Amino acid sequence: MSKGLTGIRACVFDAYGTLFDYASAAQGCRGELGDNLRPLITLWRDKQLQYTWLRSLQSRHADFWQVTQEALDFALETLGLDDPSLRQRLMELYMRLDAFPEVPEVLRRLKSVGFQTAILSNGSPAMLKAAVNHARIGDLLDAVLSVEEVGVYKPHPKVYRLAVDRLGASAKAVSFQSSNAWDAYAASAFGMRVVWVNRYGGRKERLPGSPDREISSLAELPALLCA
Ligand code: LAC
Repeated sequence: MSKGLTGIRACVFDAYGTLFDYASAAQGCRGELGDNLRPLITLWRDKQLQYTWLRSLQSRHADFWQVTQEALDFALETLGLDDPSLRQRLMELYMRLDAFPEVPEVLRRLKSVGFQTAILSNGSPAMLKAAVNHARIGDLLDAVLSVEEVGVYKPHPKVYRLAVDRLGASAKAVSFQSSNAWDAYAASAFGMRVVWVNRYGGRKERLPGSPDREISSLAELPALLCA
């Protein structure tokens, strides 16, 4: 049993893959996708992230809505899926992804014991607002922070700095939760305390940083923070 983290004031969450299930967009079209369901989920997500990193390296930022569409176009073409109505439906579904089932209760519990709660995400403000509204968790969040405020994607340190500045908490008083290992490691290298929500059974990264704790679902988080 891992020991709890102490000295935490604010709980900051990655959005896609951590609070919201990005696979639920493609799953909403599983009939049309058939055997292409899993390949599409993987390729779309991998390209989306690669494009964020590449654009950041080139200092050619475009918002996550554009990047997500461009990644989808790459994935659909790769899989030979030339169907504009499918593309439109997938993007619509991306605006109202399912939250993972434990999310509302976990946020409620953290707020009830006095933690600040926030999202820190690559998502554009409109995408994050739509996802938060769809999951009905707006009342459980003190802030929804988008990289659009700093014009560069994770894992640039400016992104993690945004959360610290906006929440008025020192990095060491923030517990950052992400299912993306690279995001978890980067937040740790920045100085935050980090809980890696290893939903997808990932391996440890060979990158700067070292998450403080590893859990497999957010349901395990209150026990770490509310001890
Ligand atoms: C986000 C991506 C990295 O929400 O999942 O920032």
